[in-house]
Amino acid sequence: AQPTHRLVIHADQGRVQISRHIYGHFIEHLGYGIYGGFWQRDAQGRWHLRQDIVDALRRIRIPNLRWPGGCFADLYHWKDGIGPQEQRRPILNAFWGQVVEDNSFGTHEFMALVEALGAEPYIAGNVGSGTPREMAEWVEYLTAEDGPMARLRKQNGREQPWRVPFWGVGNESWGCGGNMDPEYYADLYRRFATYLFNYGGNRLYKIAAGPADADTTWTSVLMRDVFRRNPGLMQGISVHYYTWISKTGRWNDKEPATGFDEWGWFKGLQKALFLDEVLRRHEAVMDRYDPEKRVGLIVDEWGMWHAPEPGSNPAFLVQQNTLRDALVAAVSLNIFNHHAERVRMANLAQTINVLQALILTREGEETIVLTPTYHVFDLYKEHQDATLLPVELEAGEYRYGDEAIPALNASASRNAEGAVHLTIANLDPHQERVVQARLEGIQPARVEGRVLTAEAMDAHNTFEAPDRVRPVAFTAYRAVGDGVYELRLPARSVVALTFYPR
Ligand code: AHR
Repeated sequence: AQPTHRLVIHADQGRVQISRHIYGHFIEHLGYGIYGGFWQRDAQGRWHLRQDIVDALRRIRIPNLRWPGGCFADLYHWKDGIGPQEQRRPILNAFWGQVVEDNSFGTHEFMALVEALGAEPYIAGNVGSGTPREMAEWVEYLTAEDGPMARLRKQNGREQPWRVPFWGVGNESWGCGGNMDPEYYADLYRRFATYLFNYGGNRLYKIAAGPADADTTWTSVLMRDVFRRNPGLMQGISVHYYTWISKTGRWNDKEPATGFDEWGWFKGLQKALFLDEVLRRHEAVMDRYDPEKRVGLIVDEWGMWHAPEPGSNPAFLVQQNTLRDALVAAVSLNIFNHHAERVRMANLAQTINVLQALILTREGEETIVLTPTYHVFDLYKEHQDATLLPVELEAGEYRYGDEAIPALNASASRNAEGAVHLTIANLDPHQERVVQARLEGIQPARVEGRVLTAEAMDAHNTFEAPDRVRPVAFTAYRAVGDGVYELRLPARSVVALTFYPR
């Protein structure tokens, strides 16, 4: 007999809202993410936004999009990317394959993209090779009603200022963003941020380039040297956390996206679960300086990073996306939900064709492929702006060799209409897990669910078989009492259930 796990959802409790921005995304000038991804040439050679991609992202209610990098952000000079496209100065993308881009995708094109998506823009400004003036003028160009930059914007065809809520001051300034020490970056941050003004009704949420992984020294220097000195200058600190696995422990020796064994499955999920600890450590440092939680933790790059696909340009970070990526996304999003009091935004890297992508395109191909990770965002979208609910979960164990991780991982929320949304992942690749779920405080009238699973751990979608991994109706549940349900979660699955109130 299968062990029965107990789950209690306190549906009448909860005080923290899960920001929809936790379900955000990120695009960089890198490989086929923008050029050849979102941004395609038509038969006449003219660039345009790909509408099928826009439609697919609207369906999962994409709340925001970060651009233009990544490492590329600290190389990018925005004025080269405005004005008539054919007159723009090209850029050599030195970080990512040294390809030459014609700069046809610039500020106006990005803003048109986020408008088409119905998403909020999150722009990362250049600290590493830029100046405070260049960054300040970009904000002015985008958001001011009048003045020299607003006039330039109007000459380029945009009369009204845009609204830009999120602004990043550099990216990975400890690495590709300038190889700085935290104290030096904190000084620079204060200098750059001083000139990022709120024009008209626009209010900038300014985000400092934060640490990688669990480097709390960087976080604590920013809290001490920026927040404590000038609290109004910094609204968020970013953190980057990638899930990568390697048998040798070396960055350049990462394991492939497909064809892995159970060790690869287990290690991927174990590393994804460690995100919880990473967030706890940064939060503990932030709480010391900021117990009122005024500064947000912004996980503006996360996801699985595998070895490049055989035959692809290694600088383009092309990788397949399997059921394992889906489970990693499910676990990560559950973790973000639980940390919603401090984690105000997160951005998966990198939307189309790059790293843990939601969508794959192929040259000459008219259709797109939705990856298993895309489907997880679809299953989780009901959490956006809902109230996080406390849950008690007897998660059991999934053992591999001498090690074990919790077999189940869940989060729950309640929306404005009182419907409760539960997302629960079974990490065990072999065994169905039976859960007795009790909802406290509501009497559901109706339950609906969907499940994402597949036969193989590395099942994935391709142009030839685009629907191998996709959600289907979840029917393996039954009411066993008032507000009590037995759920049979298939091995290696993600299940999303909505309990509608009477
Ligand atoms: O997402 C790929 C790269 O990872 C980004 O450019 C950089 O910020 C990080 O190291």
